[in-house]
Amino acid sequence: MKPQNPKPYLLACAALALGSVQAADLQELAKASGCFSCHSMQEKVVGPAFSAVAQKYAGQADAAPELAQSIRNGSVRKWGRAPMPAHGSLEQADIQRLAEWVLTIKP
Ligand code: HEC
Repeated sequence: MKPQNPKPYLLACAALALGSVQAADLQELAKASGCFSCHSMQEKVVGPAFSAVAQKYAGQADAAPELAQSIRNGSVRKWGRAPMPAHGSLEQADIQRLAEWVLTIKP
């Protein structure tokens, strides 16, 4: 775990300890991970609104792993011309939780 960025780790630990991941915690994790510099819940910023992502992938069984891969490795041309950079420094477990969380966001 990167010492300069302890907060997602603490949140993930707290979530694991509780045995359930609260949406509010995941929003905090997304904030701590810098996601909201390019995304918002309901509006397109640099990247698509998280609610739009949830809508696009609704009903797709393998959506969470696909989104996790986009977050980890970066993504381009799925939504527009702006690319999403890779997030290789995030914990894989956090990336998976973020991907699953994005899919739950309602418009
Ligand atoms: C520097 C800006 C930037 C940051 C930071 C960023 N994103 Fe993105 N994100 C984008 C852009 C731009 C796209 C659209 C990429 C494309 O068209 O393929 C995108 C796309 C996505 C998608 C859809 C991917 C797909 O396969 O359809 C998800 C989910 C996502 N971002 C989640 C996140 C999460 C979670 C974080 C924080 C860990 C994050 N993003 C941080 C810019 C960003």
